Amino acid sequence: MKLLITGGAGFIGSSFIRHVLSLGKGYEAVNFDKLTYAGNLANLDAVAGDPNYSFVRGDICDPASVEAAMHGCDAVVHFAAESHVDRSIYEPSAAIETNVTGTFVLLQVARKLGIQRFVHISTDEVYGDMAPGAFATEDSPIQPSSPYSASKAASDLLVRSYVRTYGTPAVITRSSNNYGPYQFPEKFLPLLIMNVLDNKPLPIYGDGKQQRDWLHVEDNCRGILAALERGRDGEIYNIGGSDIEENLTMARRLLHLMGKPETLLSYVQDRPGHDRRYALRCEKMERELGWKPLISLEDGLRQTIDWYKSHSAWLAGVRGGDYLSYYKKYYEDRDSSLHAIAQPGHGGAN
Ligand code: NAD
Ligand code: DAU
Repeated sequence: MKLLITGGAGFIGSSFIRHVLSLGKGYEAVNFDKLTYAGNLANLDAVAGDPNYSFVRGDICDPASVEAAMHGCDAVVHFAAESHVDRSIYEPSAAIETNVTGTFVLLQVARKLGIQRFVHISTDEVYGDMAPGAFATEDSPIQPSSPYSASKAASDLLVRSYVRTYGTPAVITRSSNNYGPYQFPEKFLPLLIMNVLDNKPLPIYGDGKQQRDWLHVEDNCRGILAALERGRDGEIYNIGGSDIEENLTMARRLLHLMGKPETLLSYVQDRPGHDRRYALRCEKMERELGWKPLISLEDGLRQTIDWYKSHSAWLAGVRGGDYLSYYKKYYEDRDSSLHAIAQPGHGGAN
């Protein structure tokens, strides 16, 4: 089966490519990626020489290059997105363009070429803030809070409409917070690990009592493959971990595992519109697809910390000038940057 994998140079897409190619099940992977700040071909060094792997640089918003790349493929696994909530708050237009228009372009081309299976990678953030004790099932209402999650919810609705109207053979996966090797250090865990390694403060938004459901990326990739191979057309599958933790607890666990003091914790101004809690019910994955998470948070955290400690060349590669200006704007100048976006008439940087 020849797969078009969008966003395959990112964190989860590259893990998925490494996973499917390692199985030796006859999959061919075409990685279609624009290589934004988040795309990194070094994530694919392990498969670069594999005859079943190829790379095409392109933008999912460009119908001609999408069609050229999708031609001859049997299935699409669609990871490409602007995936960071904070960036979508400061500069929403990239998330709307890539996540909504890009998904629309892919659906149109998939329809034209008669693609046999379209796996749309979505997120638990589309369900919005969950009340204490509540869990989202696949039937829960979508109530996104940020421009990022709204754009993902919009793309989910487009996929749903293509299933219903055109019979597009699509499934949607909605996973919780992924962690693991090769994650760009703008997300919470890799940013904290990197700061611990540098003896820098760990920025905790607000009171740090927000809860997230932590899922090892390799568990997610096994779930996505199960959805590709055995998911039912038109269905949504929640993919979550087995541990829901407060951010502060996660930060303390990292400090403990890395032998550093809690004085590194630093409370900073909260993210606007910050969801307090995400929590998923994933029984459908187990019942229908025989999937459940296998990697405990304790083991996964230890393995992830070890990976970052032992991949200093990879870290040096992603911590260039762009990252330093990102860090300055979002952390060192946090109060003034947040103040600016809260001003009436502020239209965002783009
Ligand atoms: P990422 O930011 O690490 O990678 C995104 C990839 O998409 C990059 O390689 C980037 O170059 C590429 N890309 C961006 N815009 C593109 C465009 N216009 N055309 C082609 N390629 C483009 O993201 P990730 O964390 O790997 O997330 C992958 C998917 O999983 C996203 O759809 C995200 O919404 C979803 N998701 C992520 C998480 C998480 O915890 N990271 C959880 C649930 C769902
Ligand atoms: O839930 C799935 C989603 O998880 C995905 O759809 C998104 O693509 C992915 O980015 C992630 O979104 P979050 O906003 O939950 O992840 P992030 O790593 O940005 O933040 C996790 C939590 O940690 C959140 O409550 C905000 C907080 N946080 C984050 C950063 C970057 C901090 O307290 N300090 C930080 O510096």
